[in-house]
Amino acid sequence: MSMKLPFFRKKRTTNFERITLDNPPDHVAIIMDGNGRWAKKRGLPRIAGHKEGMDVVKNIVSVAIKYNVKVLTLYAFSTENWKRPKAEVEFLMKLPKEFLHVYLPEMIENNVRIETIGEFDVLPDYTREAVQYAKEQTSQNDGLLLNFALNYGSRLEIIRGIKQMMSDVDASKITLDDLDEQLFSNYLYTNGLSDPDLLIRTSGEQRLSNFLLWQLAYTEFWFTDVLWPDFNEEIFRQALLDYQQRKRRYGGI
Ligand code: FPP
Repeated sequence: MSMKLPFFRKKRTTNFERITLDNPPDHVAIIMDGNGRWAKKRGLPRIAGHKEGMDVVKNIVSVAIKYNVKVLTLYAFSTENWKRPKAEVEFLMKLPKEFLHVYLPEMIENNVRIETIGEFDVLPDYTREAVQYAKEQTSQNDGLLLNFALNYGSRLEIIRGIKQMMSDVDASKITLDDLDEQLFSNYLYTNGLSDPDLLIRTSGEQRLSNFLLWQLAYTEFWFTDVLWPDFNEEIFRQALLDYQQRKRRYGGI
C-alpha cells in the first residue's frame, strides 16, 4: 500500500505594510479605462497608454494586498475589444506576457494567485501559454487572487452558462427544478468567487461595458475622472474609504 506524504507549504510572508479597514471590500473589480486618452493628451500613440496602464496594474496589486483585499478582478480585454485596429489588439494581447515576464516573480513572492475569466482557449498562443504558466506557478498561493478578465464579455458568459446548464439538464445531471440563482452562478466563469463588493471605473465614463452583469447586482459603484495610467494608491485608498461609508441593504431596509 502506498502512503501519501503530507504536503507542507512554506508559509510566505510579504513585506507589505497592512492597513486594517473596518469594512474592507473582499472583492474589488476595476474597469481600467482611459489609456488611449492619457496617451493622446501627451501626443503619444495609444499603445503608450496601455503600457503605462500595465505598470499601474502592478502598483495597484500592492495596494490591494496592503488593504487586505482578497480578490482583484481587472477588465484587461473585452470580447468587443477585437474591433480595435489590428496593431492595438496585438499590443494588448502581448501585455499579459510582458506583465508576467517582468512581474511574475514578484507576484509569486507576494503569494498572489493568478486566474482569468473569459474565453481563454481562443487567445493567441503567446498570450495563453504565458498566462497558463502563471496560473500553474501561482495555483498554490493563498494570498490575493488577481483575476484578469481576458477576452471577457458578460452576455457571452451568460449564454455559455445557459448552454452548459441545458446540456446538464439533457444529461439528467440536474433538473429544471434545481435551477436557482446559486446553481446558475456555478455555470459562470466566476464560479466559486464571491460577487464584487466594489466596482471602480476610471476615466469619467459611467457604464458597465458588458462587465460582470450578473455578478454586479448588489455591488457598490465608484467612479473617478482620473485616467487609468494616473490611477494610484491615493485614489484607490479614497475609493476604499468611500466604500466604508456605504450602507449595503441588498434590497432590505
Ligand atoms: C481601456 O482604455 C483599456 C483597455 C481596453 C485595456 C486595459 C489594459 C490595461 C490597463 C493593461 C492591462 C495589463 C495587463 C497586465 C493585462 P481605452 O484604451 O479604451 O482608453 P480610451 O477610452 O481613453 O481610449
